[in-house]
Amino acid sequence: MKKTLTLLAIVFTTITGLFAQEHQMSKSYIPPDDQLVKEKLAGWQDLKFGLFMHWGTYSQWGVVESWSICPEDEGWTQRRGPYSASYNTYKTAYENLQTTFNPTKFNPEKWVQAAKNAGMKYVVFTTKHHDGFCMFDTKQTDYKITSSKTPFSSNSRSNVTKEIFNAFRKENFMIGAYFSKPDWHTEYYWWPYFPPKDRNVNYDPAKYPERWQKFKDFTYNQIGELMSDYGKVDILWLDGGWVRPKSTIDANVDWQKTITYDQNIDMPKIAAMARTKQPGLIVVDRTVTGQYENYTTPEQQVPDVPLDHPWESCITMGNSWSYVPGDHYKSADQIISLLVKIVSRGGNLLMNIGPGPDGDWDPVAYDRLQQIGNWMKINGEGIYNTTAVTPYSEGNTFYTKLKNSNTIYAFILADNGVVTLHEKVFFHLKVGGKVKKISLLGVDKKLKWAQYGDSINVIIPKDLQTNSGLNNAAAFKIQF
Ligand code: GLC
Repeated sequence: MKKTLTLLAIVFTTITGLFAQEHQMSKSYIPPDDQLVKEKLAGWQDLKFGLFMHWGTYSQWGVVESWSICPEDEGWTQRRGPYSASYNTYKTAYENLQTTFNPTKFNPEKWVQAAKNAGMKYVVFTTKHHDGFCMFDTKQTDYKITSSKTPFSSNSRSNVTKEIFNAFRKENFMIGAYFSKPDWHTEYYWWPYFPPKDRNVNYDPAKYPERWQKFKDFTYNQIGELMSDYGKVDILWLDGGWVRPKSTIDANVDWQKTITYDQNIDMPKIAAMARTKQPGLIVVDRTVTGQYENYTTPEQQVPDVPLDHPWESCITMGNSWSYVPGDHYKSADQIISLLVKIVSRGGNLLMNIGPGPDGDWDPVAYDRLQQIGNWMKINGEGIYNTTAVTPYSEGNTFYTKLKNSNTIYAFILADNGVVTLHEKVFFHLKVGGKVKKISLLGVDKKLKWAQYGDSINVIIPKDLQTNSGLNNAAAFKIQF
């Protein structure tokens, strides 16, 4: 059995991660009117850097989270391995992964230390992905980590959502619950009477309203549990945007064309309940647009320009959202460059790491976080509590502005690991006023500059030109 699983993992590895299922950004934004939500949202925008984690029984096979049980013929939904020949055999084997899930190395304090050291300030964790397996102790189904069918249930920390939230909250992280609205396990979404055809509900909710009502209750109750029994939660990150009222379908978005039925789960009711239990809760009804999408979530991409509303790019550190053995991780340079670009356009970076079946991360992830932390300790002051400022960027230079101040940071990104500074560095800033001081973070040297109108011209000392000693990105602090 172990051999088969290893083999499966190897076979799966070759195909996962090659395909990204991109979600489009919302086009119309409605700001929240609840004062507490406004405040939390503003506070969240200052945090800039968060940790995302996709973790479930799928991590044992190293497959694309949930998607191989979705009967659509897409790159990322392909089945591989010994059970793949028949859909039903495969789904049974996939759901049996519950009976072997035993991540005994689970130690959220280790994660929080690494994330905190890297400068991350919030966490979003998959409490339930599309496959319906609950990483929390729900009362609505037995398809959960705390069921006696799951070996890890005998562990004292088996309610991993609670453990993760507590560990991160203790270190002052904002807490986000990722929750998939679609659920490919419950009979109220995929009714066993019909075979599932695609990612959507497999019966017509208008024709079978009682069944749909049961699905609505199931969802409402699960979200209710997460909002009641897991301490303070700041963000409810709802994925699976095809579960939405028909009237909100955007016909220009390709993946939304497959939605045939109205899948209204009554967001006003869910949000009202959630906010009674968690005042000020940020709700992210991803891609649905409207008043329950408090921020938008461009996926695996960085918008070219600043957006006119709160947003967060979610991006994988490896190639995949969930654990794949030997996944290829982005370099510290690449991650820092993403962070700087995103922050210069006014957004947050939610960086994903997929824990493995043993309950720990790939050592490479720790290594990257360490390097990011080294950089953040010196340069983080130009990242947090900043806003976008025109001209946002010039070539390889990216600007941020410290809120309520006359301070601008100019980041020059490294090329192949090395930051190269030429004899003169030019910045063109329309902020106005006379420059009072320019310094280079992490470098204890006085810098000279000249200012002609919009143009600031910094003179770089010789030794800094040949060897800046700066990793990943240099940050100039310009005080007006
Ligand atoms: C994509 C994937 C989904 C994942 C999400 C994270 O939409 O399909 O599995 O959870 O990205 O943003």
